[in-house]
This record gives sequence, structure tokens and C-alpha cells, in this order.
Amino acid sequence: MFSNPFKKQIKDNLGLDLKPGDAHYRAYVGPPGDYDLISAMVFNLLTCLGLRQHHKVLDIGCGSLRTGRLLIPYLNRGNYYGVEPNKWLVEDGIKSEIGQDLIRTKAPIFSYTDCLKEFKQPLGLDYAFAQSIFSHTGTDLFDRWLSEVAYHLRDDGVLFATFLIDEVDSTESGWIYPGCVQFTPDSVKKMALKNGLGFSMLNWFHPRQYWAAFYKVDYDTSLIKNDEISWNKYTIPRIKDHKKPSQYTPK
Ligand SMILES: C[S@@+](CC[C@H](N)C(=O)[O-])C[C@H]1O[C@@H](n2cnc3c(N)ncnc32)[C@H](O)[C@@H]1O
Repeated sequence: MFSNPFKKQIKDNLGLDLKPGDAHYRAYVGPPGDYDLISAMVFNLLTCLGLRQHHKVLDIGCGSLRTGRLLIPYLNRGNYYGVEPNKWLVEDGIKSEIGQDLIRTKAPIFSYTDCLKEFKQPLGLDYAFAQSIFSHTGTDLFDRWLSEVAYHLRDDGVLFATFLIDEVDSTESGWIYPGCVQFTPDSVKKMALKNGLGFSMLNWFHPRQYWAAFYKVDYDTSLIKNDEISWNKYTIPRIKDHKKPSQYTPK
């Protein structure tokens, strides 16, 4: 029997034996065994809620491009914004996941900070998302991110974000990592309203956290209210030029 000489290397590169927060581009951002699952969860949420190639998207705390590696090829050139204070994560994500050719072709915009201050004019974002960011922000930082994102979203734009729920709010401030903080949905809603954003919890599975939408005044909330989010629900009424007269229902 010949053993695969690359097996150990592949396993090591995926960081599967490491703990969340360890110094590896996949482990630092969460349980390494979930790296693919989280990419799929975010990309599917965005596309089931209408993300198209011409939209502008902000990835808050984009880390090692766990979702960026799917979004950057999908979006038109220059439409992906990633904000990440740990530059090494983005660099390792580019090196190990997408390569420099895609960076040249799609020209994503990266800001190696923890805020949007370098963008003076509104970015006109259609979508923003924060996966496992508000599970690590004290109220002060959570509130600041909502305020900054609200300024950069279009009037029909939306932020999708995850957070951890408890019956009382955590009292920490600033960035807490790899520790976590929790909030009540009521407190998060108050923060959203204070920043001119509507708020709704989403029925979209996350293995550890909960998804919510923070939306501007003209966002079409029929997409997220009162029902499961699904690909069919979004596309069938909206994609007018499909050729099929009706859906085929398997018996
Ligand atoms: C749990 S990881 C999630 C990364 C990415 N969103 C994902 O799903 O793979 C948290 C990320 O937030 C970044 N971060 C650190 N301080 C931050 C801040 N003040 N605001 C936003 N993100 C921050 C970390 O460097 C890290 O990449």
C-alpha cells in the first residue's frame, strides 16, 4: 500500500486539529471543521435574499475570506469590500484559498482596520454582513458598527449579522476575543432603532449563533418576514425571463 505523501500536509493546512482562536488562518476565525459550512451558510443566505453580481457588499471582520472566497468571484469587479484589522488573515486567505490572480481580476477592496473611517463618502452598499463579529463586541463597539454601516448602506440596503442570545446583556466593552458576549434580542433591536435601522430575527440556521437583519427604510421586508427564507421564494416571483411555465412538483 502506498500512502498519500500529501495527506498530512493537506490535513495540517486545514488546521483540523486546532482550536478556535489558534494562530492558523482557518482556526483563528472559528472551529476549523466548520470552515466550509460557514462559507455555505453565508453565501446561501445572501443569494436566497437577492444578492446579484452588480451589488456592493461589505464583509465586516472578513478574516481569512471564509465567505470572501465565494463572494469575490461571484461579484462584479470592485464590488467586494472587506474590513479586517488582522491583515495576516486576509493575506493567508488570499495565499491559501483564492490566489493573486483573482485579486487582480476582481479587485476587491480591503481595509486593514476595525472601522469604516477611511471611507469618507457613503459607499452605497446593497448588503453588509457580520458573521461572528457581534458575538465579540461590547455594546459600545456593536453600536458603533451599526452607526457606521447605516451611513454606508443604500436606503434599500440591509445588514445581516449573527450574535449570541441570553436573557441579560453582557457588560463588557470593546473587542472580546476569543471570548464571547451575549445580548437579548430586545436590546439589539433598541440599538438598531437608535441607528435608524429596522430589526428582525431571521429563520436561518447557524450552528452556534442567531441571524438577524438590520435594514434601512426602503428595504423589502417581505423577503424576511413570516416565513422560511428560500431560493424558490425569492427567485420564482422575481426572475421574469425564465422559460418554464410552472415549477415541476415531484410526486
Ligand atoms: C470569529 S472571526 C470571524 C471572521 C469572519 N467573519 C468569518 O466568518 O470567517 C472574528 C473576526 O473579526 C476580526 N476583528 C477583530 N477586531 C474587530 C473589530 N473591532 N471589528 C470587526 N472585526 C474585528 C478578527 O480579526 C476576526 O477575523
